This record gives sequence, structure tokens and C-alpha cells, in this order.
Amino acid sequence: MDRLVIEGGTPLKGRVPVSGAKNAALPCIAATLLTAEPVRLRHLPAVSDIRTMIKVLQSMGSQAEIEPDDEGFEFSAVLKAEGLETAELKASYELLKTMRAGFFVLGPLLGRFGRASVSLPGGCAIGARPVNLHLEALERMGAEIRIDHGYVEAQVPGGRLKGIDHTFEKVSVGATENVLMAASMASGTTILRNAAQEPEIGDLARLLVAMGASIEGIDSPVLTIHGVEVLHGCEHDIIPDRIEAGTFLCAVAAACGDVVLERVVPDHIRSLIDLLERSGCAFTEREGPNGTQLRIQRDCGQKLYAKDIITGPYPAFPTDLQAQAMAVMTQAAGISVIRETIFENRFQHAMELERLGANLRIDGSTAIVAGPAPLTGCTVMATDLRASAALVIAGMVGQGRTEVDRIYHLDRGYAGIERKLRNLGARIERVGGGKV
Ligand code: EPZ
Repeated sequence: MDRLVIEGGTPLKGRVPVSGAKNAALPCIAATLLTAEPVRLRHLPAVSDIRTMIKVLQSMGSQAEIEPDDEGFEFSAVLKAEGLETAELKASYELLKTMRAGFFVLGPLLGRFGRASVSLPGGCAIGARPVNLHLEALERMGAEIRIDHGYVEAQVPGGRLKGIDHTFEKVSVGATENVLMAASMASGTTILRNAAQEPEIGDLARLLVAMGASIEGIDSPVLTIHGVEVLHGCEHDIIPDRIEAGTFLCAVAAACGDVVLERVVPDHIRSLIDLLERSGCAFTEREGPNGTQLRIQRDCGQKLYAKDIITGPYPAFPTDLQAQAMAVMTQAAGISVIRETIFENRFQHAMELERLGANLRIDGSTAIVAGPAPLTGCTVMATDLRASAALVIAGMVGQGRTEVDRIYHLDRGYAGIERKLRNLGARIERVGGGKV
């Protein structure tokens, strides 16, 4: 099992490319099920979740041509869901237990074929992760759904979903994405209210429009979809990963330095930029050859100031950056109160940060962090994707050697993070078995 070995105390300097967004690429890959024609997706991050998602589609008969890029952080893929009319259209538990976003195939399969057998994704380290909001909307659109041996067995009498006016009881990224894809081929108009507004949903909607879908209100909480009978192939560039970008910003804020992020959309992480600016970091934005460049500076002698954080649906502070920001706040002067409002168990990184020397206390869904606390290296264990990133950040701050075990969690969502950090001057090595 791989682990990362980090010698802390080195500032980060240089330029780092941001890869395509994992959480945009996953639903976009699922959306290719909506057409028999080839769809080329560029800037797919070279991470295990993306490879697993492509396997889910291949298991149902989709064809995939992979075109790796030269640096190995991203790749392009041409996906073609042709000849699936008589396929079983089953997304297996074996695949979905490792990558729950495979559940995103339910919407497109019902939208195009009117039938699907998709494993319930189950919970994960950060919470129960129910899918009731997905199923409730799809049933209202006419799908008959039963749970049988851990699978969602769904079919649409008459073969085609019908448009509905639907208000999600709770903001859900996955439910918005699944139902948006289903509605793109339903009969009539679907209105989705209280829809999630994360940039990844806008990216999916723009892919669907490029495939011929008719969608209004993109990037707003009310999506209006006029269903069409057929969607066609296209090419699409996946947006930059705002969470990877935010992770690098937190690394510089915590370990200090001067780094330029390339191909980033600053507005997608405005809440984090605002937090780190108020904490004492300096930012500059400029247009570069590959899109916007974002420079973050934090001099090593400069004090960081503790700030409070409350996670929430976009554009509020993203839950996927909560762990990384907590690592930063362990180095900030004062008390930072961090409230996690999205997931019920997303503080597992806190106990590991304490082992490194952080001074914090957990009270239900609130963490109270007192800083600055000197960190010293030790062996810590990753428990989930973003917690792993927080431990890597803390390891780069901690004096001495930190070993982060179980980094298969990290490999799910970060393409070559140790290579990118080493290119910025970090002393970090991957040790252990082969690649993921
Ligand atoms: C997506 O998960 C992301 N994953 C998560 O990123 C991210 O943390 C989350 O959105 C919130 O932004 C992908 O996009 C692949 P939700 P998702 O549905 O869609 C509850 C990462 O680190 N809920 O917005 O599963 C749910 O329990 C991952 O990259 C229901 O109650 O999140 C949670 O409390 C982690 N019923 C809240 O809503 C449902 O049917 C938000 O979940 C669905 C969700």
C-alpha cells in the first residue's frame, strides 16, 4: 500500500497546472450515455475515480478511446454509447462500492433507455450519503423504482420520462445532476427548483447543451429543461478543478511561499480566496496562455490570522475544502471556529491533525482550532479524499518527517499531487507498491 513521506518546513515556489475537475468529469462521463454518437471529453484528470467511471460505462457496452497527455496529469477520452439498446444496463456494486458517483448513470439511462439497474452506492467515511432526493424526483417523472438486493431496479412504463415542476427538498449536487441528465430527454419541460449551483453542474449543463439539450437558467438555482428526443456527439473541455486549486492555495497559505496556479477559475473559489486574503495572504490574477493565472503569496515571516468558516452549498465555502482550510487554521494566530453543515462526519482529519500537534477541539459539527500550533512530523492515516489532502498540507508544515498512509484515498481525486508539490520545492516522495 503506497504512502507519502514528507519532510516539512520548505516554502513552496513556482508554477503549478490545475487539472480538470473530477467532480465535473464524473457526471460528464455519465452524460455520454445519452447519445449513440462519440463524445470527446478533454482535461479529464488522471485519477482512479475517472478510470473507474469509464469502466462502469464500458461494463454496459460503451466504447472508450483514451488519449493520454504528455505530462500524465490529464487525458482526453472519446466515449461512445452505441448499441446499448439490448444491453443489461447494470452498474455493479463491485464498481460502485469503490466509487459511489457511478450512481450518476441512473439519470441518463432512464432518460435515453427508460430502464436501469444501478447498485445503491452506500455510505462512505464522511456520511450516510442517501440518494432519496434522486429517486423521489425520478419517480415523479414516471420511473417505477424498487430496491432489490441492494440495487435500484428502475423502468419507465411507456419508455419515456415526463417533465415535472420539482423543488428539491434539500440542495444536492448529485441529485441535481442525475435529474438534469434524465430531464434532457424527457417529454415536455422540467423545472428544477432549489437546484445546486456548483460550477460542476454548469459544466455538465454546457456539455448537454453542446449535445443538443435545451436548458435555461444554467448556474442559477432554477433550471428549466425542454426535453428532446435525440442528443448528438460533441467535444467538451472539462473545467479546471476548483478543489485541487483550493488545495494548493491552502498548501501555500500553511507552508508559506509564492506560487502561480495555471488554468484556474478564481470565481469558482472566491470564498476561499476571500478567507485566505483576510487571513493575510496576497493574491493577483492575470490572463495567461492557458487561461487565468492566480498567484498566491504568503511570506514566511508573515503572520496568519484565524478566521471562522461555515461550509455550505455553492457559492458558500465548499465542504470539500474544509479539511484543507482546517490545516491552514492550525497555523493562524487566534481561534478559528469551523462549522461543517453538509456532511455529518467530516472531521476525521481533525484527530490526525492533533497527532501532528494541532490544538483543536470537536464539538458535534463544529471544530474549534487554536493557533498557531507548532506541528512535528509523525505517521498519520488518511481516511477520505480531502482529509488526505489536509494531512499532506500539515506534513509540509510539520518539522521533521511525516508519513501519510492509505493514500489510495488521495489518488481518487488528485492527479500526481506529489509530483506537482515536488515541482514547487516540497520534499515529498511516494513510497511503497505500484501505481493505483
Ligand atoms: C458531491 O457529492 C461531490 N461529489 C462531493 O465531493 C461534495 O462534497 C458534495 O457534492 C457537496 O458539494 C461528486 O460530485 C462526485 P450532495 P454528492 O448530494 O452529490 C444529502 C469529493 O471530495 N443528500 O450535494 O453526494 C447528503 O447526505 C466529494 O470530491 C440527501 O440527503 O453531495 C449531504 O448531507 C466528497 N439525499 C447533502 O445532501 C440525497 O438524495 C449534500 O449532498 C442526496 C444528498
